[in-house]
Amino acid sequence: MKVAKTIDEMSALRRQMTGSVGFVPTMGALHEGHLSLVRRARTDNDAVIASIFVNPTQFAPHEDLSHYPRPLDQDLGLLREEGVDVVFIPDASEIYPEGFATWVVMDDVTERLEGASRPGHFKGVATVVAKLLNIVQPQKAYFGRKDAQQLVVIQKMVRDLNMSVEIVPMSTVREADGLAMSSRNAYLSSEERRAAVVLYRDLVSCEQMYEDGIRDASGLRRAIESIIAQELSARVDYVSIADAETLEELETIGTDRPALASLAVYFGKTRLIDNVTLGES
Ligand code: PAJ
Repeated sequence: MKVAKTIDEMSALRRQMTGSVGFVPTMGALHEGHLSLVRRARTDNDAVIASIFVNPTQFAPHEDLSHYPRPLDQDLGLLREEGVDVVFIPDASEIYPEGFATWVVMDDVTERLEGASRPGHFKGVATVVAKLLNIVQPQKAYFGRKDAQQLVVIQKMVRDLNMSVEIVPMSTVREADGLAMSSRNAYLSSEERRAAVVLYRDLVSCEQMYEDGIRDASGLRRAIESIIAQELSARVDYVSIADAETLEELETIGTDRPALASLAVYFGKTRLIDNVTLGES
């Protein structure tokens, strides 16, 4: 496995690759969720490139950029075991050199949910993903449904800007008790970790209500909120039942388009997100 620290090194290694290339962008602190993307990229492609870059522009000033876990040696070991060909680990100054001034800004879909709670977040995400895709030039790039809105934003960016890459969505990998794997789970105290399983329990109940024929979105939102309210250490940021593509909040879930049930909840200082899609064929 080769490690490229600069764009020049990455581009030189990319030029040597002749077959199909699958790309998995990450911020490191890798877990089974990330590795499921890497494994799929490995089976789908002749070569696999992963990146580890804790992108400063997608963190607000009060967020956890400086505390974000960075176990680089461990991460490189995991990627090597999965047969990754090249890992790109640029410094921030490589991606955002002095004078950097061009951003990918998307209307509408970025203003809701995570975008409303974290203004500017998706400007940072879309910009860095566009840059990484330009640098790595993969045929396919792999993203988790765990970050459902991020996936929607990236699929839309690729369509809107005619980028020639296929975005492959991947299912959420969960712990044995259902908590979605996340690098941020490491911040939870044991009491918060125990409480956090309410997210999954709640989404499973929501799916069940949907299966039982409930289509009233406000009713579903209220039901989700009341389940979280039973967990005293949990503080809701948002609960949403939205169109899975436009992310507009729904009154009623239609028969023709899937809906995304998503939520963001604080446990202490740690903010966790999770979601399920309702009505997907
Ligand atoms: P990061 O949070 O490290 O996640 C990297 C990729 O792993 C994303 O596509 C994310 O959706 C996926 N992922 C995370 N947890 C997962 C889980 N439990 N199951 C399946 N996939 C999971 O998302 C980012 O980094 C950044 O925003 C990035 C796209 C790299 C841009 O900076």
